[in-house]
Amino acid sequence: MLMPKRVLFLLGLLWLSAASWADSGDRIMLPQARFSTGDHSAWKDPGFDDHEWKVLDTSRYYEEQGFAGYDGYSWYRIHVVIPSSLKDTSPWQERLQVFLASIDDVDQTYFNGVKIGQTGRMPEDPGGYDSQYQARRDYHVDLRSELVRWDRDNVIAVRVYDGGGGGGFHKGQPYLKMAQKIEGVALDPTQSSTRFLPNGRSSTTLKIANGFPVAQSGQLEISVKDGATGRVLQRQQQALQIAPMGSSQVAINTASRAGIQVTYRYLDTASGKTLEATQALPYLLTPPERPTPAIHGASVLGARAGRPLLYKIAATGRAPLRYSVSQLPAGLQLDDKTGVISGALAADGTYTMQLQARNALGQATRAFSIVVGDTLALTPPMGWNSWTAHGTGVSDALIRQAAQALIATGLAAHGWNYVNIDDGWEAQARNAQGEIVGNEKFPDMQALGDFLHQRGLKFGIYSSPGAFTCGHFLGSLGHERQDAASYARWGVDYLKYDLCSYADTMSKQPTLAEHQKPYQVMAQALQEAPRDVVFSLCQYGLKEVWNWGADVRGNLWRTTWDVEDSWDSVAKIGFAQAPYSAAAGPGHWNDPDTLVVGQLGWGNALHPSRLTPDEQYTQVSLWSLLAAPLLIGNDLSHMDAFTRNLLSNDEVIAINQDALGHAAQRVFQDQDWQVWVKDIEGGRKAVGVFNLGEEYRSFRLLPGLLGKTSFSKLRDAWRQRDLGRSAGGITLSAPAHGMALVIVE
Ligand code: GLA
Repeated sequence: MLMPKRVLFLLGLLWLSAASWADSGDRIMLPQARFSTGDHSAWKDPGFDDHEWKVLDTSRYYEEQGFAGYDGYSWYRIHVVIPSSLKDTSPWQERLQVFLASIDDVDQTYFNGVKIGQTGRMPEDPGGYDSQYQARRDYHVDLRSELVRWDRDNVIAVRVYDGGGGGGFHKGQPYLKMAQKIEGVALDPTQSSTRFLPNGRSSTTLKIANGFPVAQSGQLEISVKDGATGRVLQRQQQALQIAPMGSSQVAINTASRAGIQVTYRYLDTASGKTLEATQALPYLLTPPERPTPAIHGASVLGARAGRPLLYKIAATGRAPLRYSVSQLPAGLQLDDKTGVISGALAADGTYTMQLQARNALGQATRAFSIVVGDTLALTPPMGWNSWTAHGTGVSDALIRQAAQALIATGLAAHGWNYVNIDDGWEAQARNAQGEIVGNEKFPDMQALGDFLHQRGLKFGIYSSPGAFTCGHFLGSLGHERQDAASYARWGVDYLKYDLCSYADTMSKQPTLAEHQKPYQVMAQALQEAPRDVVFSLCQYGLKEVWNWGADVRGNLWRTTWDVEDSWDSVAKIGFAQAPYSAAAGPGHWNDPDTLVVGQLGWGNALHPSRLTPDEQYTQVSLWSLLAAPLLIGNDLSHMDAFTRNLLSNDEVIAINQDALGHAAQRVFQDQDWQVWVKDIEGGRKAVGVFNLGEEYRSFRLLPGLLGKTSFSKLRDAWRQRDLGRSAGGITLSAPAHGMALVIVE
């Protein structure tokens, strides 16, 4: 049956509004929107006739709803009748909250034609495109502006730019509601900083911000609980006044160990409403560094004959340290002040030597082998990647800053040596010779490579086999050999090769050969280049890449989509790695993405990782057991004591860098616990016991679980302490989402 357009339009409107009303309460849900690809400024206007636009579900990407493969600009228009009775749901009647979940990748949002918010940057904005696909969109309409048309149709128009991926609304269901005054108070434990005191205590300062232009006043109650015993250790209460758009601070001085939890409860005096937040306090597990010399990092290095080799001995100990190497093979030289070994080895073979580091307090010696052949990355690469800190805002200056921080914080001395530029370094166009060049933020790639190498660090870079990278910079399509040659000239040691827009050149259901081809092409180009370049495949695990990544000469391959700094993301990715364990080994590793610890920002204002301290211990422990590449994702120039301590545990790192190159297998799993076991050198096993539950709990680890009849010796890897003999089994405790990591002999 044909209906006149106008009727259809009104019916559609009614239906959209009715659907919204149906879910109401204090919230008006916004489950549907009209949608169009393209871009027009009139589409923000409430009067624009959108009845011919398609109706989409606002909780799922538009690519899943008939717009597969569409990237670029699009608009959503949500029609909603807002009953004036909504005002009665709040004693404070100054603001309407517009919650839009998350939007892939950038949005500009208009309420009845007036802009109320933007998250991320559009390609035409100053600074260029910046994806914020995972950020939460919480916008407000000031009710004094009289923008809201009570009891009539209102239009929320959302201009979207999608640079790749699912596109548009995702991650939740948009809604409207009256903002409550207390919602201006951010009781956010990630906005705290902790100082560790010498007496086994810590002092934590929490900043409580007020995001509304009205004063807040109430009572704050703080209670500290010991998760291990369930006992409340202390309780304090205080009045809290926060100026409009201002902030206030509270401090807690308490015992510092696993399982200490603080609950903050804020009561808004006027409305009687409360806010509550719980924080698992950070605590240090890695013992303080010893002043006597110690050598760290992998005991083997893979290299190819005749290619330039650079290796800095990773060693700690009070400065100055002096280095020496016995049986240093001909072709290599050592800088005895920096510990950098450089040169080239002409012939295949295994070259074994003894590394030494000494200072006024003593000397450390360690066996080290360089295996010259055709395998690089004999142990998982360790270092830093720019993406989760700087996004496409990365620059030469930020890379140098990261390199300097890697050294200044001492992390380089524990073996962290790759400095990898991710997306955002490439110029808009190739030069006259068709060569890729750095953009204005990267004036001289070769000078940057030299800067890193002079400090004994390795230089990593990023590209895509497609015409464009995921961040819409130039990719290598059709220029693979030329790019590999440029990288070699600049001194690049590592390439992350990210599928991105190459997917557009593949068929709808790409075959295995189609998936492999772009990686074979670049692998060949790298092979011909006069340098050792570790090859990192990034195609998110498509077509079970772990089964063939090594065949296309990948040294590592991402097994997942991008990791985020949430427990959901880290646990989902990390604990899903079991089926691929067997694929990992020297020269070819599963890559579950970077370590989302410390200060992160994806190019925007930095925020502390939303992982709790225990979740961060779990990520580092699990990634070490998995023999995953360890690439730190945080801004190293803003690193607190907890993060530094987390990343400098030599016994944990040694599990990751173990020369056997096994990835852990899961040997036990129930609702709350998982146990993962990795065979390491010396007939030992590294065992991770992970508490996936929400409470501090204990787990009885029995020898039978590891195929043993008894335990002879157990060691706590994080605390670097022997646990003594516990032949019949051992009870290990862990806070919520925390772990115990033991070495069993
Ligand atoms: C993809 C990758 C990320 C990062 C970005 C850069 O999303 O999975 O790791 O490299 O591209 O644009």
